[in-house]
Amino acid sequence: MTRALAGRTALVTGASRGIGEATARALAALGARALLVARHAAALDRLAGELGHGALALATDLTESGATERLAARVLAALDGAPDIMVHAAGSFPLAAVEATTDADLDLALALNVAAPLRLTRDLLGAMRARGSGDVVTIGSVADRTVFPGNATYAASKHAVRAVHETLRMETRGSGVRATLVSPAATDTALWDPHDPDAAPHLPSRTEMLRAADVADAVAWAVTRPAHLDVEEIRLARS
Ligand SMILES: NC(=O)c1ccc[n+]([C@@H]2O[C@H](COP(=O)([O-])OP(=O)(O)OC[C@H]3O[C@@H](n4cnc5c(N)ncnc54)[C@H](OP(=O)(O)O)[C@@H]3O)[C@@H](O)[C@H]2O)c1
Repeated sequence: MTRALAGRTALVTGASRGIGEATARALAALGARALLVARHAAALDRLAGELGHGALALATDLTESGATERLAARVLAALDGAPDIMVHAAGSFPLAAVEATTDADLDLALALNVAAPLRLTRDLLGAMRARGSGDVVTIGSVADRTVFPGNATYAASKHAVRAVHETLRMETRGSGVRATLVSPAATDTALWDPHDPDAAPHLPSRTEMLRAADVADAVAWAVTRPAHLDVEEIRLARS
């Protein structure tokens, strides 16, 4: 049986765990060759070995100066062109009231959640556009439209991510490159570990959360639609 993404390549950031890892697994299961990006080389190497199909581990700290340019150059050389699919899933999740917001949390959220996907898209978009095809999938959040107390930094970063996505969608219309925003509600991953949600009454408990595989399924669905169809936005909530 031919798999929907056989012969295609998929770059996934945040692939060492959580939603990025689940997405890399889902796309590889459909036949894609996965290019795995995060900082932890050992986790990426393990996953690449498990996925096969020529999966590549590309350990990168996306917040370092020049990181996306260097990563894009490695990807373009390894694939002799742009990946067919690029999924931006690396992210940080600070929770703090405005007056308790630290510079470190603010700088990281803006660098990792906003600047890194924008720069990496910038660095690979020309090659996608020249080929006339490509999927740029951004993992947004319920917080890209909704704000909660304690969420100023994260919500600001995710509102910005949605703005970048919507701009990209307009700028790529008719080019063959598609842009999709997948915005999940709370999802049970290690992102929540520092906040211990099961012990905090104002946070959803882990059993009430989505699974990383739910988000990965949505990404896989969007990128396997026929070429004439652009899935602009998917919002996932607990039923
Ligand atoms: N979990 C949720 O409730 C939820 C809900 C809505 C949206 N989201 C969004 O979904 C995305 C993935 O979240 P998740 O829940 O899967 O989080 P996670 O389990 O904490 O995974 C975060 C990923 O980002 C990578 N990462 C962190 N810092 C990095 C850096 N400086 N450079 C490169 N990679 C880095 C991590 O790998 P390394 O540590 O190996 O670098 C890891 O692979 C994020 O954008 C998040 O905002 C999550």
